[in-house]
Amino acid sequence: MFIGGIAGMERVISHDVNPPYLSLLTGPPGSMKTSFALSIISNHLRRTGGFGLYCTVEETVDSLLKTCNSMGLELPPNLQITDLTELRKENEAMDYLKFTRRMIQHFKQERGEQFSVFILDSLGAIYSLTKVDEEMRKKMFGFFDFLRNQGLYTFIITERQSGEFAELQGNEGFIADGIINLGLDRRNGKIVRTMQVEKMRHIRHSMEKQAIDISPGGVTVLGPLFD
Ligand SMILES: Nc1ncnc2c1ncn2[C@@H]1O[C@H](COP(=O)(O)OP(=O)(O)O)[C@@H](O)[C@H]1O
Ligand SMILES: [Mg+2]
Repeated sequence: MFIGGIAGMERVISHDVNPPYLSLLTGPPGSMKTSFALSIISNHLRRTGGFGLYCTVEETVDSLLKTCNSMGLELPPNLQITDLTELRKENEAMDYLKFTRRMIQHFKQERGEQFSVFILDSLGAIYSLTKVDEEMRKKMFGFFDFLRNQGLYTFIITERQSGEFAELQGNEGFIADGIINLGLDRRNGKIVRTMQVEKMRHIRHSMEKQAIDISPGGVTVLGPLFD
């Protein structure tokens, strides 16, 4: 998944992870969370022939396609992008988590083991549409549990400013198997894009900040950044 999904990732982790595996993809706006997610899911599906579901709450499908075009990334045909931005307009009071759960169950039934990757872009957008109280936190816990039980590689995108912990409203940071933080760093008068693996259960990984960039296969890890 990670190795083969993101070029250069073999410099960061010793070997790959097995599903179910739930990772948080965090970072401030513009840190390429969406680009990273699109790269990893496209490359993985193209390599394995599996089926993937990308659920977008922030951006329209059209906007995602533009991102892919600009990266020179071709989306595989077995990738389903579901646009919740439309639903958001139609039904203010809808239960997004329940809806997403049903959608995943539907594709599990239809595709079985082929269905291997799910991406939610983003959790913050769902929180912003719902009242966040104790009830919601419980629901979110249940949702993460549900995702793990589906045997999927899951990526949950969440916005996060540098220096903040990876918990938004609840216990996402504890529940997740992995936390990958993307960011922007100033070095020698230049801004460098960075990726740092903060947590990755079951495997040995580098904790160093890595420089990343876009190359024809999407987001690519260039190598560690030194102070
Ligand atoms: N082809 C490209 N090459 C390099 N950088 C790009 C390219 N296309 C977009 N970007 C950068 O990616 C950023 C947006 O990335 P995105 O994945 O939407 O971020 P996020 O989801 O974290 O908000 C833009 O601000 C721009 O700096
Ligand atoms: Mg985004």
